[in-house]
Amino acid sequence: MTISLTGFMGCGKSSVGQRLAALLCCPFMDLDTHIEDAEGESVSRIFSSKGESYFRGKEALALNDLVSKGLGCTGAPELVLALGGGTVTSGKCAKIVHENTICIYLKASVTSLAANLSKDAPSKRPLLAKAAEQGKEAMMRQISLMLEKRVPAYMKSAHIIIDTDGKSVDEIAERIAGEIKSFHPFHACP
Ligand code: S3P
Repeated sequence: MTISLTGFMGCGKSSVGQRLAALLCCPFMDLDTHIEDAEGESVSRIFSSKGESYFRGKEALALNDLVSKGLGCTGAPELVLALGGGTVTSGKCAKIVHENTICIYLKASVTSLAANLSKDAPSKRPLLAKAAEQGKEAMMRQISLMLEKRVPAYMKSAHIIIDTDGKSVDEIAERIAGEIKSFHPFHACP
């Protein structure tokens, strides 16, 4: 069973995913990292040299590849997978995620997303880099606009929604681990 994490850029998919994988004693993978390894280029470079639609094609292939690795018959978590913030905006990817993983939506407000993203290099996120150059207000506007369009896709893909505002990475990971057990009982690692 794969546990996937969805949500907007900066919501903590990778940090929470790593912590959750440690709690569940299973491997962690980041979809963007998988694509970067396969392509030998950073996500930003792929966007600038080959364009977003090329990236989305690779994202769909990588998703298929990783989800099939987590499809065991034991019902135990076999992989925690951090998706990209835009993965489930593709109907095809959203269907793969919803039907083949237990998907967690890490819900966060525009304010906390902007705060988290400002601590990280915004240039790593090609869809926000331009707004980040124009300052905090432009960044907040861009996040709001994109988030409004994406929330329906996050909600539709998810089986569990976690409100992350004001919670630490540990708290979020522990809450998810608890919810997953009631959603799909399994034996935790010793
Ligand atoms: C994207 C999010 C990024 C990465 C790419 C596109 C998006 O992942 O996949 O830059 O469309 O929201 P993170 O959510 O891990 O930053």
